[in-house]
Amino acid sequence: MVKNYNEILYNNQRIETSRMVLRKFTPDDAVDMLEYASDAKAIKYQGWDGCSTLEEAKLEIVNNYWAKSHANFWAVELKDTGKMIGSFDLQIFYTQDRAGFGVMLNRKYWGKGYGTEGLAVLMKLCFEKLNVNRMSAGHFAGNEASGRVMEKCGMKLEGITADGAIIKGAFLDVFIYGITRKMYYEIRGAMNDKKL
Ligand SMILES: CC(C)(COP(=O)(O)OP(=O)(O)OC[C@H]1O[C@@H](n2cnc3c(N)ncnc32)[C@H](O)[C@@H]1OP(=O)(O)O)[C@@H](O)C(=O)NCCC(=O)NCCS
Repeated sequence: MVKNYNEILYNNQRIETSRMVLRKFTPDDAVDMLEYASDAKAIKYQGWDGCSTLEEAKLEIVNNYWAKSHANFWAVELKDTGKMIGSFDLQIFYTQDRAGFGVMLNRKYWGKGYGTEGLAVLMKLCFEKLNVNRMSAGHFAGNEASGRVMEKCGMKLEGITADGAIIKGAFLDVFIYGITRKMYYEIRGAMNDKKL
């Protein structure tokens, strides 16, 4: 049965966690976005080259995240300060009932649990509303924090593809993590207890 994934995504363009609001990007986010998009260390493991000017950041938002059709991109706003510190995105593979995701956070805010808190809420959306059967993502060798975030959300390392990607001109091994709907429901209680 074909599901109406897009309608569910449109209806979830604002998602609250305990410390963050995931919401749609607006062109006004360009200033905060430039802070992480121009940070070579933050974008080191991204296929993306980032942005170096405010104009480029605005174009990135308007062209790639702002349109109504792009309901799979969320800006991350901190509830306490209103600062926009990064993004989460979902990719839905309709014919395989599977979701992938991406995350990018301003380096000043790493190590404070925001990545884990955001992934946990996207997992809830994927398994409990979009009803996908599987979520998976890969991180590149050297970016172990990303693997740790996935582990903390109950995903399992399934394998490593040697030289699986070329990032910034270099071959890197790719560490593939995954979780099925069945696995998610087995750990959901424990995740809720952690208040993620
Ligand atoms: C990857 C990223 C999203 C993590 O977000 P975060 O908010 O810092 O993550 P959290 O604070 O929730 O958790 C980070 C975990 O990684 C651990 N960690 C950090 N550096 C590590 C390293 N070098 N090796 C192993 N674990 C590491 C932290 O200790 C923490 O685990 P813990 O809670 O058990 O101590 C963030 O670093 C980021 O945006 N990086 C740039 C973009 C990127 O690489 N995205 C992922 C693409 S696959």
